[in-house]
Amino acid sequence: MKDEAVPETKADKVTDAAAGTAAGGGVPTTDPAPGGRLRKKPAAGAEPLLRVSGLAKHFPIRKGLLQRQVGAVQAVDGIDFEVLPGETLGVVGESGCGKSTMGRLITRLLEPTGGTVEFQGRDITHLSTGRMRPLRRDVQMIFQDPYSSLNPRHTVGTIVGAPFKLQNVTPEGGVKRAVQGILERVGLNPEHYNRYPHEFSGGQRQRIGIARALALQPKLIVADEPVSALDVSIQAQVVNLLDDLQQEFGLTYVIIAHDLSVVRHVSDRIAVMYLGKVVELADRDSLYRAPLHPYTKALMSAVPVPDTKRRQQRERILLKGDVPSPIAPPAGCRFHTRCWKATEVCRTKEPPLLELKPGQRTACWHPENAPDQAPDDTK
Ligand SMILES: Nc1ncnc2c1ncn2[C@@H]1O[C@H](COP(=O)(O)OP(=O)(O)OP(=O)(O)O)[C@@H](O)[C@H]1O
Ligand code: SF4
Ligand SMILES: [Mg+2]
Repeated sequence: MKDEAVPETKADKVTDAAAGTAAGGGVPTTDPAPGGRLRKKPAAGAEPLLRVSGLAKHFPIRKGLLQRQVGAVQAVDGIDFEVLPGETLGVVGESGCGKSTMGRLITRLLEPTGGTVEFQGRDITHLSTGRMRPLRRDVQMIFQDPYSSLNPRHTVGTIVGAPFKLQNVTPEGGVKRAVQGILERVGLNPEHYNRYPHEFSGGQRQRIGIARALALQPKLIVADEPVSALDVSIQAQVVNLLDDLQQEFGLTYVIIAHDLSVVRHVSDRIAVMYLGKVVELADRDSLYRAPLHPYTKALMSAVPVPDTKRRQQRERILLKGDVPSPIAPPAGCRFHTRCWKATEVCRTKEPPLLELKPGQRTACWHPENAPDQAPDDTK
């Protein structure tokens, strides 16, 4: 009864009031027709809001009495991308490929091992906690688990009002009024200001998390799997809410998700990660229509297609083997142990992320849907 499909376009948007009447079975298990949401594109050539260069995070592995470092988990290992103002960058990839670590690095919740993070042209990579504080107003994070990310001993008012206190900001009309306004905006009852998180459903808790992230009117929101812990029937409502808030407040999003249907719906551009690397970065439609990286092609082949004819035409690619360990990733192209196209060069030389088509960057020596690329062509 309460099932609700993630809408294909803004016009198809399902309102909370209509929840329950919409057809479909939750977030689409489909490869939607070209389109997705309709929205104003960020101006081409706009200065990036966020730029990440060579970003890396290696978690040390220590052993013995002296806790000597014996290795490192190469969770993120040299990634480059930028996010334009007003756009949504989706980030996809299998579990353990470094998506959350990347999210925590760009919000400076983790200290990078290498590379740089620039926000509005300013290098913020190694800013101290004190110097980061004013920037925390502009960069906020929404977490995956609306159960563990909210302090059960605090009321909703305290949780959503905390950013004001932390930043020493007194909004016009006072904190309580501001918080109630935000609660209302995210679809919660402002009268519930004094209630505790356990009194809310999963979807409502995620709205509280969104309200907290919105409190100081940030410029960038990094959302790590914002809907994957939610009941399928609720996912579309939260996706719609994020979409509306973006339009209303001119927000820029980095949305991490493993569900390709969700990513397709929300993103303007998509970064595909594999074992700590970005292997493809492209605008949404190019990526879904003609992926260049074999890994992206394999991911896309797993997205169900509603159209029987297209379904028959499309070959499902089953990747062999498991994702290798990020402690000792394969040499050369990290995907070579599972790639059906791997050659000698793939095993020895790492492919750089290059723009092979306008707006579509790929790290592969033998990309799909493109003339075969020999290593010498890319020097
Ligand atoms: N604090 C940490 N210490 C050591 N290793 C870590 C730490 N955090 C993450 N890792 C490791 O880094 C790798 C990347 O983890 P990360 O959580 O970023 O992946 P993910 O893509 O978000 O996965 P998922 O889709 O399961 O959330 C994993 O191998 C993980 O075990
Ligand atoms: S570089 Fe080689 S192994 Fe890596 S994805 Fe491309 S073809 Fe496959
Ligand atoms: Mg994660």
